[in-house]
Amino acid sequence: MKAVVTGATGLVGGHVCRALREAGHEARAVVRTARISGPLDRLDVETVRATLDNPASLVAAMRGCDVVIHCAAVYAYGVARAAEVERVNVDGTRQVVTAAAEAGVRRVVVTSSSVTAGSSGGPVARDESGRIGTEYVPPYFISKVRQEEVAFATGAESGVQVVVACPTVVLGGPANRLVPSNAIIVRYLTDPTRSTFAGGCNVVGVEDVARGHVLLAEHGKPGERYLLGGENVSWRTLHSLIADLAGVGGPYAEVPASVALATSALAEKWAQLMSIEPLSTRDEALTIGRYFWYSAAKAAQVGYAFGPARAAIASALAWILIGEHLPRWVRDGLRVGDEVRAARRLMPRPL
Ligand SMILES: NC(=O)c1ccc[n+]([C@@H]2O[C@H](COP(=O)([O-])OP(=O)(O)OC[C@H]3O[C@@H](n4cnc5c(N)ncnc54)[C@H](OP(=O)(O)O)[C@@H]3O)[C@@H](O)[C@H]2O)c1
Repeated sequence: MKAVVTGATGLVGGHVCRALREAGHEARAVVRTARISGPLDRLDVETVRATLDNPASLVAAMRGCDVVIHCAAVYAYGVARAAEVERVNVDGTRQVVTAAAEAGVRRVVVTSSSVTAGSSGGPVARDESGRIGTEYVPPYFISKVRQEEVAFATGAESGVQVVVACPTVVLGGPANRLVPSNAIIVRYLTDPTRSTFAGGCNVVGVEDVARGHVLLAEHGKPGERYLLGGENVSWRTLHSLIADLAGVGGPYAEVPASVALATSALAEKWAQLMSIEPLSTRDEALTIGRYFWYSAAKAAQVGYAFGPARAAIASALAWILIGEHLPRWVRDGLRVGDEVRAARRLMPRPL
């Protein structure tokens, strides 16, 4: 199989390229800049330049391939980027599926998100039949719902098979930027109060999610969505695992959503002043207390499997420690154990 991957400089897209090669497939990486680093570094893949708003460049990038794996998107919270999130995630997906039809590619795997299956008020795992209800949903979540609708509708109109991958909170590295999922770890380590909050999420290692995308490209049923997740954990359990692996204390008190909201507002203001991405946002704070718990049973039918949350966190921590995302005073206070060191050794080697 020859697959073309959009968003190949991203955390998920880069690892999908690697997983394709490891499964014996050919991979063509679509990039929009000449900067090839992070997961794509020294990986044996063909790279082509194309942008989502240039249909001719997309068609040219896709010609001769059997499948498109569309990972390019803006994964960001906060009202400041809401319009961009909608444009890139929704209009960009329409362009990609249309370009696939024009290039003669019959199958597209679209990377959406588990958030499209909604969240629960209690610790209950949701499956692919789940939908968003009346709870607060950030613009990023809405863009992912609209992305799926547009992908299926454009596929039906143009005769392209569309399969949707819905990863949960993806942890790991290497990566070119600190995406909001890995930022959960940085946020806990830089929080002097070592607080936690109510509710929970589902965490998965990026290598598992990448292999899941390859399985869906090979065996996914057209018109279907597949949750690609890992272990369901409460926020307290997740923070305890981070604390244990990093050799720090906590978690201690459970912070109410109102306090998280106020802290996030400050973080967003600071980020705006410094022209950096905020470490936390009011969008995320408003989802506190909900359970983003999911089942990967449907994906298991095509061979998907996942490792424990602890391993995913150890691997992400190993990458975070070698990057620039932790201030020195925080890094100096960590006492990481053998598990994190081993995860660093296990980081994917160049092929
Ligand atoms: N990470 C998670 O926890 C998670 C969970 C569920 C779903 N997802 C989904 O997985 C996909 C990939 O996310 P990620 O975590 O890999 O994020 P990421 O590391 O930020 O990667 C995003 C990729 O999209 C590209 N991109 C962004 N805007 C673009 C534009 N206007 N035109 C063309 N390319 C553009 C980026 O290119 P540049 O490098 O050039 O900026 C990068 O390659 C997204 O659809 C996201 O919603 C992620």
